[in-house]
Amino acid sequence: MTMLSPFPAPFAPTLLWNARLLMIERATDDAKACAQWYSQLLGDPVIRLAPDVWQVRGTDRWMLFRTGAKKTVPLIAFAFQTHDQWASYRTHLKLIELALHPVAPELQALFGEATFAVRDPDNRTVLFCVAPSATESTAPSLPDGDPLTITGTSAPAEPRTARMQHFVCASMQTDAMLEFYRDVLGFMESDRVVDTDGDLSSAFVRSDAEHHSFAVFRAPHTGPDHQAYELPNWNAIRDWADHCGDLEIPLWWGPGRHGVGNNLFFMIEDPDGYKVEFSTELEIMTPDQAYREWPHGPRALNLWGNAWMRS
Ligand SMILES: [Fe+2]
Repeated sequence: MTMLSPFPAPFAPTLLWNARLLMIERATDDAKACAQWYSQLLGDPVIRLAPDVWQVRGTDRWMLFRTGAKKTVPLIAFAFQTHDQWASYRTHLKLIELALHPVAPELQALFGEATFAVRDPDNRTVLFCVAPSATESTAPSLPDGDPLTITGTSAPAEPRTARMQHFVCASMQTDAMLEFYRDVLGFMESDRVVDTDGDLSSAFVRSDAEHHSFAVFRAPHTGPDHQAYELPNWNAIRDWADHCGDLEIPLWWGPGRHGVGNNLFFMIEDPDGYKVEFSTELEIMTPDQAYREWPHGPRALNLWGNAWMRS
């Protein structure tokens, strides 16, 4: 990967600003079964995009599933609100000579021509596209021309509101990850958590007014940490917890209130033990607001009690 120059300073928020996390790709040893688990959780239909690629698609929450290393997230996708903004961002990344990669055919069919990808220091693919509502692309079809396969689902008559909002990864190189997402991709740094000696424990970055759409936690391994859905209010936290109870999915952590981000939350585990978070009241920040620094400790993670310490 070649990076000749950092993102221009001061940061021009129009280049990345308002890009939102839209999709996360989960690899696992039984992609269809994992997709069906999320379909039941979210009430969204399962769509077969390719012989071994499945999508669970809600209005503002997309997930992709394919067979691969268990409990991994090899790709995350951010969507711009307009094609012009996507094109300007792509032009900028080409100017700084960041390597841009084509995407898999089923993703090209899904997102249309306005799609490219980059690789972060942990070799995760970060895809940039245009929000589906802003495109005129037709529904995807299998490469061989077969129609979509939509499986049965327990979708409720009124799908529950839960917008795909952020992804967090575990990494053995938090400094390099922060520098890439902030200085190369142009995310804004919102908060960092540091040890007493100044070492970076975790970093939270935003691509719109919401406190973070991506974060990295220091860990003794590299991999996904969790994904989160943002809910409209505290009552929705109750309703989703009740829904998980109905599905006999136990709460894994919470409810609580994160110190960093100030959001209310609870977490569950999917069949691989990968964490899924439901959140509300995530802090809203201005584009030019400077980052804050937190001491590494439980209160950064949960003001209400126990904390999940990654390192
Ligand atoms: Fe989170």
